[in-house]
Amino acid sequence: MSQDQVRIFDTTLRDGEQAPGCSMTLREKLRVARALSELGVDIIEAGFPAASPGDFEAVKAIADEDLGPVICGLARCNPADIEKVHAAVKGATKNRIHVFVATSQIHREHKLKMAKEEVIKSAVGAIRMARELCNDVEFSPEDASRTELAYLAEVVSAAIEAGATTVNIPDTVGYTVPAEFDELFRYLKKHVARIDDIVLSVHCHNDLGMAVANSLAAVQAGARQVECTINGIGERAGNCSLEEVVMALKTRGEFFDLDTGIDTTRLYPTSRLVSSITGMHVPRNKAIVGENAFAHEAGIHQHGMLQHSSTYEIMRPEDVGLSRSNLVLGKHSGRHAFRDRVRELGFELDDFETNRAFQEFKKLADKKKDVYDGDIEAIIMNADSATAGPWKLNQLEVRTSSDNPASATVSLLHEDGTAVEETAQGDGPIAAAFQALEHLTGVEFTLRNFELHSASIGEDALGEVTVTVDHDDRSYRGRGTSVDIVEAGSRACLEVINRILRRQKRTDSESDPSASASRATI
Ligand code: KIV
Ligand code: ZN
Repeated sequence: MSQDQVRIFDTTLRDGEQAPGCSMTLREKLRVARALSELGVDIIEAGFPAASPGDFEAVKAIADEDLGPVICGLARCNPADIEKVHAAVKGATKNRIHVFVATSQIHREHKLKMAKEEVIKSAVGAIRMARELCNDVEFSPEDASRTELAYLAEVVSAAIEAGATTVNIPDTVGYTVPAEFDELFRYLKKHVARIDDIVLSVHCHNDLGMAVANSLAAVQAGARQVECTINGIGERAGNCSLEEVVMALKTRGEFFDLDTGIDTTRLYPTSRLVSSITGMHVPRNKAIVGENAFAHEAGIHQHGMLQHSSTYEIMRPEDVGLSRSNLVLGKHSGRHAFRDRVRELGFELDDFETNRAFQEFKKLADKKKDVYDGDIEAIIMNADSATAGPWKLNQLEVRTSSDNPASATVSLLHEDGTAVEETAQGDGPIAAAFQALEHLTGVEFTLRNFELHSASIGEDALGEVTVTVDHDDRSYRGRGTSVDIVEAGSRACLEVINRILRRQKRTDSESDPSASASRATI
């Protein structure tokens, strides 16, 4: 790879997935990994294998598919973590072990309780061990941006001597500002011997809204790998947004004079995929992939656009994969057109999944004239949850009136063949349906969040509900869709109940409580 190329290291499946509300199932992670590979990222950080057996399995499944990009796993500086990463990623032709240890005074004193020399010793030992297992080893001094500069240079030098092939500089708490980060990178370039032998990387969080700006400052100062996530998802305010940093490098090509290997026309579909999988909606005004990113409302702008699009448009929507026409499908659309659209939306479905989704599409097209992209995404996302039991919604009937409490009659089918039914009352139809579901399944929870979105346009659009509930000190998320919003809510609630029940079946010994990655939302 030339010096004029910036490597895109995607950590949606690790740092992004770690954020509350963003956890994904193995199947969903595989879908995202395939989309990332189509997008052209250079490295996929697929997870933190020591965090839980589920994380390990997911990293391994992604590595075993050998999608093309380097597959990387994160490890703390200890042999058990490093061995787990190696076992998980070794199925990929190109694989990487990423080890990290915190270096700032705050972290050394309060978190690690380690002296400066001990931290270096631990990093060096881990890098050496990782290098024995793998030729491609990345090292991150966590909280680098708040680490004493001279000491950071010492750590980075030691990491290079020990065999790290990429050294990543994280702004772990999103504290730095572009000019300061530029100085930090220039300082390292000047004071670390052999720094040009390795790839210098940057990893920014967005606590002050500067993750992209800080990453670009690092690139200008010599970083040639940017760590980022789709839609900028990640801990707290998130990570550097992949689509923003990539489009900044491309749109301001004459300024940066650097390339990435990203197929930018896959940005929008990949963003939609991650948003529909995680339930993290992209704000309308989000740069690059927000619904309004290319919408021109003000008359004066519209006039300018009609004269020449470059008056108010610095990028073409097509360049990020947003077709100007939201192609409409209807009941006469065939399997071919449907499959092509599904692919354009970023989904890779096998024949069975395509058939199942096509049947649902046909049913929906019978009910509503025009089927939009949002409806198709909702069908696909719903198909996954609708097939995971043990409970399935059989029927739902609700009554509401302005004078009396609402009532809901819910009938469910269990995978063992049992059918149950219950009528419950509540302040509104959703409350009544949720009451009935709790009684029928015996699963009690506290509703934390209920979000309703219209999947497309028009009064007959599919309603998409995402619920987050607490149960036994854990947070669970579920999603449901239907043209009837009470049914969509009930499906989302049932998905959560099914997740709780499936989790109860699994053995508690599965998770390693010592792993620091939070597994907050399931
Ligand atoms: O933010 C951070 O410091 C990290 C490291 C593990 C790279 O995510
Ligand atoms: Zn991070």
